[in-house]
Amino acid sequence: MVKKKHIEAMDVLLTMKQSEKNAEYFDIHKLINDLNKQIKHKCWELNADGRYDKTIEIVDKYSSYIDCVEILEDLCNFIANSMQEYNYNNKYDEAINLYNKYHHRFLNNVFLSNKLLNEYELASHKIILESKPRNVMLILTNSCDLNCIMCYQNKEVEKNIDKKLVDIVLNNLQYLEKIVWQGGEVLILPYFKDILLKTLQFPRIHQVITSNFQNVSQDIIELISKNNIQLTISIDGAVKKTYENIRMGASFDKLKENLKKLNKYIVEYKSKMTLQINFLIMKNNYKEISDIVDFAYKYKFSIVVFLRCVTDNENLKITKEYEKDIEVYIKQATEKAEKYNIKIINVFSEFNDVVCSEKEREDVCENKEIVNNEGLSCHLPWYEMTIQEDNAIKPHCTCGYTRITDTDKHNNIYDVWNGKIMQEYRIHILKSDEKKCIDKCRLMSLDFRKKFNR
Ligand SMILES: C[S@@+](CC[C@H](N)C(=O)[O-])C[C@H]1O[C@@H](n2cnc3c(N)ncnc32)[C@H](O)[C@@H]1O
Ligand code: SF4
Repeated sequence: MVKKKHIEAMDVLLTMKQSEKNAEYFDIHKLINDLNKQIKHKCWELNADGRYDKTIEIVDKYSSYIDCVEILEDLCNFIANSMQEYNYNNKYDEAINLYNKYHHRFLNNVFLSNKLLNEYELASHKIILESKPRNVMLILTNSCDLNCIMCYQNKEVEKNIDKKLVDIVLNNLQYLEKIVWQGGEVLILPYFKDILLKTLQFPRIHQVITSNFQNVSQDIIELISKNNIQLTISIDGAVKKTYENIRMGASFDKLKENLKKLNKYIVEYKSKMTLQINFLIMKNNYKEISDIVDFAYKYKFSIVVFLRCVTDNENLKITKEYEKDIEVYIKQATEKAEKYNIKIINVFSEFNDVVCSEKEREDVCENKEIVNNEGLSCHLPWYEMTIQEDNAIKPHCTCGYTRITDTDKHNNIYDVWNGKIMQEYRIHILKSDEKKCIDKCRLMSLDFRKKFNR
């Protein structure tokens, strides 16, 4: 009944709009806009309640009056999120049901239909996927302008990712939700600006750059802030001496200068970029854990991440006797950050770098029934992939094994995404055979391995 009245009202408004004379008495455009807004809002409420059929009923009724593209996009996102939630909670059948019921509505939107198809293929445990990757990490090079004392990256021989693989990713940007750029140091690569200009043509993609932020041009600083790119800067000391002793070849003054430039652009462009500090906790810097939060506040950082340094170097490695002290420092830092409205992500306490013993591996792998009941142990091989500077491919940069790719055989996204190594990872997870990746996976929480891909 109410809907019928709405349609009648629309008819009246559209008829009134046709006569110039009515404009003397009423702002008809405003009335139509108000009605459109009400319809959109109603659809949003219905979507939030999971009443997708009702939204579709409204779209079918009003599509001849108003542009429903936005409403349909919103609806599709809600459906994709529900599928993700079902998948996350191992209710794979329910995700499949949702897909079967609604996906045909969104076939003309390549981005959204890929998102739905991808959730469907995860739910139906496919090994070869028709959907394209939604998240990609590209480690473009191992070359770097610094020589940090704890760096895990082997730089003996310079390695650069095959441009062909980068181009394959760049040709599939229309499907991507997130792209992470890492090196070595990507901001010193002469071609990086051109890549950024290409990816920025797809503003929907959430871009993340990890950098030491030393030798970075004004252009790049401007591009990053203007386009709300998430920037993670690795800063492992709150004072010059500590910072420069760890980040060999870096200058604390240069870092501060570059941050001032960045802060200026953030204000100028009213940038909504996320600015994050990665602070690796080591024996020689843990006393500055709390001070780094003051530094973060001064230079407009909104997130500080405390990480465990993975190293065999006894002078750096945090051993048991330091843990208690460090927890106190992290607590202080967290209290301070709350006042500054800075988010602390404490990866240090969550993960440890103790490698699984053979016995533990067996326990995890033999417990297949439990793993099966709980659904798949990891969803990353369906959502994302990392391509390294040596052209090796794996689901996530911390995954345990990979193989160097014969790039001659890789001509399109499927060759990479459904290549032998990605298939192998999917098969291991489906068989609950995690022997090959379990060591390093212990560094990653279950939540992260099955995270919502939002
Ligand atoms: C290899 S760096 C490359 C990006 C850039 N050059 C930088 O320093 O941010 C990527 C991240 O790895 C971290 N990292 C380096 N060595 C590490 C180690 N031994 N253990 C854990 N993280 C490390 C760095 O602090 C940085 O946040
Ligand atoms: S700046 Fe980054 S890549 Fe370069 S040496 Fe330091 S941690 Fe390694």
